[in-house]
Amino acid sequence: MTDGQQIRCAAGSQSLLPEPIALVRRCDCVSRFADCVSLEITRRALEILRRAREIARIAAPLKLTVSKSILGCTMTAISRRNILVGAAASAAALGVVGSATAGTFGNPDSPPEGRINGKNRTSLDDPGPQNPTLAGQFPSFQDPPATDVNGMPLFWASFNNAHKRFQNGGWAREVTQVDFAISEDIAGVNMRLSENGIRELHWHQQAEWAIMLDGKCRITIIDEVGRPQVADVKTGDLWYFPPGLPHSLQGLGPTGAEFLLAFDNGKSTEFNTLMLTDWIAHTPPDVLARNFGVPADAFKNIPLDQRWIFQGTDPGPLAADERAVKSAKGVPAHPFVFSLSDLQPTRQNKGGMVQIADSRNFNVSKTVAVAMVTVKPGGMRELHWHPNADEWQYYIKGRARMTVFDTGPRAQTADFRPGDIGYVKKSLGHYVQNTGDTDLVFLELFKSDHYAEVSLSEWLTHVPPELVTQHLNISRETLARFPNTAPDLMPI
Ligand SMILES: [Fe+2]
Ligand SMILES: [Fe+2]
Repeated sequence: MTDGQQIRCAAGSQSLLPEPIALVRRCDCVSRFADCVSLEITRRALEILRRAREIARIAAPLKLTVSKSILGCTMTAISRRNILVGAAASAAALGVVGSATAGTFGNPDSPPEGRINGKNRTSLDDPGPQNPTLAGQFPSFQDPPATDVNGMPLFWASFNNAHKRFQNGGWAREVTQVDFAISEDIAGVNMRLSENGIRELHWHQQAEWAIMLDGKCRITIIDEVGRPQVADVKTGDLWYFPPGLPHSLQGLGPTGAEFLLAFDNGKSTEFNTLMLTDWIAHTPPDVLARNFGVPADAFKNIPLDQRWIFQGTDPGPLAADERAVKSAKGVPAHPFVFSLSDLQPTRQNKGGMVQIADSRNFNVSKTVAVAMVTVKPGGMRELHWHPNADEWQYYIKGRARMTVFDTGPRAQTADFRPGDIGYVKKSLGHYVQNTGDTDLVFLELFKSDHYAEVSLSEWLTHVPPELVTQHLNISRETLARFPNTAPDLMPI
């Protein structure tokens, strides 16, 4: 096939398109298209148009003439790459006859994958049991891009369908590796504390990273040197409690607090931490007496069950608590809280902005790095990967679609809404599109002391150009237009 070659399809040849398209094609002329449609029920007509639009979308980058030429069964091949040698049926779908045996641009696999390769209505419909409300939340599971190939472990989870544990004073729900197998590095908890609600004094073997999603709470902690900190945390602020350091949380008035916790171990659970009440209740009274230097009787009213979350009383002004906790050993060398919302963006352009907090600016955060990403409508988080750690995502606002690329090749796409969680294994390629009409805001968390990423476009613009043009069959002029400074977000 050469540039500019005119191709005419053969009426009645097999097609990978659904039956209505094949029907149109068999009509072999534009004038009879309307007759065909008139014979179909509305649903089938709409399906025809949807398929035609899909073909036009695929063909657009190729500069193929499709809208009329497909209906009239003719099309112009612009270059050899327009119609790659591939599956005969796939080629027929684009109105091409001959011995083509492989895929096409945007539909690369053999055997082909994706709805656009369905040969007939019954290979595309879904007559079995369905939950339309739930299915409607995942358009890319119902109709994956034709570039998705093979499968991979599910990288979507959500707090929206996680069980809430309520107590007087608040609630919590969690997504750990027990529920979300891929999530090896991070376990997530979504917690609510009422006004004055207390998450009891406790500690755990994992580090605890958090962001305040709504309201305000007071944290207390003491480090291994014996230096205490008490602080009030507002919406958009972070805290980081190193492994083993004991702490507490209390929702403040008037609204209480809701926050996200991330433990740096996927197996961690919020429902099984080391708690003050548990230990005291399970220590013999004479040992308590000896340990604290008071009569055993002083403990006769201790709770015999853990409190976990309970309703407390107004803690009063912060300054009073700061005075109350004061130690001769001073205050921690670095604060355990950090204001992410006040941080200048690391990157900002037409596509959105990125704010990064890791141990370089939030010094205590030695095992968790975070990027808060805002993507404008129509924008996308560029094709990239992270060489140092898995990425655990938390979606806060807007709608998103992420595709992950792995060896094999494997590629899979999933949709995300507020409260959902995404996960990308270390070094796997991925990108995130804003599929809504409002800002998309999500967090990228890494079990690492620093944030790191490799940008595909930055890489391709910093190797000898001939290497790239020979790999991809693109022109030097095209390559010269690639962003060369890791834009993070597109458009620039
Ligand atoms: Fe904790
Ligand atoms: Fe990423």
